[in-house]
Formats: sequence, C-alpha cells, structure tokens
Amino acid sequence: MNIILIGFMGSGKTVVGKELAAKLGVDFLDTDELIEKTEGRTISEIFKADGEEYFRQLETEVLKTLKDYDNFILATGGGIILKEGNIAALKTLGPVILLWADPAVVYERVKNEAHRPLLQVADPKAEIIKRLAARSEKYHQAADHKIDTSGQSPEQIGEEIIQWVRSKSI
Ligand code: S3P
Repeated sequence: MNIILIGFMGSGKTVVGKELAAKLGVDFLDTDELIEKTEGRTISEIFKADGEEYFRQLETEVLKTLKDYDNFILATGGGIILKEGNIAALKTLGPVILLWADPAVVYERVKNEAHRPLLQVADPKAEIIKRLAARSEKYHQAADHKIDTSGQSPEQIGEEIIQWVRSKSI
C-alpha cells in the first residue's frame, strides 16, 4: 500500500511523510529527492540552468518510474498537480492526501529556507498568495482526502492520515 502526499511548498509533506513512513515501517520517497539523485544536481540548479518547464518534465518522468514499486509514502513537489497527467499517474499509485496550509502559515514555515527557487523573489509572501490561489482548485480536485495542517503537529497529521486510510481499508 502506498500513500501520496500533495500540497503547496511548506505544507509539511516531507516531515509528515517521514513520520508516516517510520510509523508504518514503509519507505519514504520524495519526488524532488529522486529528481536530484537522477540529475546529480539540486532543484535550484535545475531551475537556474534549464528552467521550470524542464523541471516539470522531470517530475512527470519520475512518476513513471514509481509504478513498479509498492509500500511507500510519497511526498511530491508542490507543483506536481499543474499537469493533469501527473494527477492521473498519482492516483494509480495510491490515495492522494492534500496537506493544506493557508498562505500566512506557509510563509512562516518557509521564510528562512533558501532551497525553493520559486520563492527566491523580492516579495515571497505575495508570491505564495498568488501561486496558492492559482493552484488551489487543482489541489482540491486531485485530493481523495484533505487535512488542514495549521496548528497540528506532524504526528497528529500522520495519525489522522492513518485513521482515514484504515477507515477506507485501502
Ligand atoms: C515547487 C515545490 C518544491 C519543488 C520546486 C517547485 C512548486 O517542492 O518541487 O521548488 O512549484 O511548488 P516542495 O513542495 O517540496 O517545496
């Protein structure tokens, strides 16, 4: 059984994913990490040298490589839902859980981090508001279950996900 985590940057996919994987005794995978490994460079380097569109192609490629694996928690890059085909691919892998956070919460979580090229702009707060609004509908449409992560610890969120998955007996 796999569980797929989607959501905006700073929504907690990585920290919750690791927590869940440890709890369930399964592997933790992260599309950004897999891309960095196969490319041999960081996400920032990829964006700088080849641009966002190239990075989006890599995301689609990496999803194809996952179809032969089982028993993992997958944290996805925040923009994975931008392509319809990616959403369809994610749904074949397992239930898709949306980790939601409001723009102010996202900003507080990411403001001291420098590894996200899309937020290295003069006004990251405005950038978060703009991109989150543009993606919101796609996140919600893609999700089989949604969790508002504000004020919840990774452990609580992990527990909520486990309860939901068990209730669906997926
Ligand atoms: C992106 C999110 C990042 C990473 C890249 C682009 C996005 O992943 O894939 O910087 O478009 O939202 P996280 O959501 O893990 O930060």
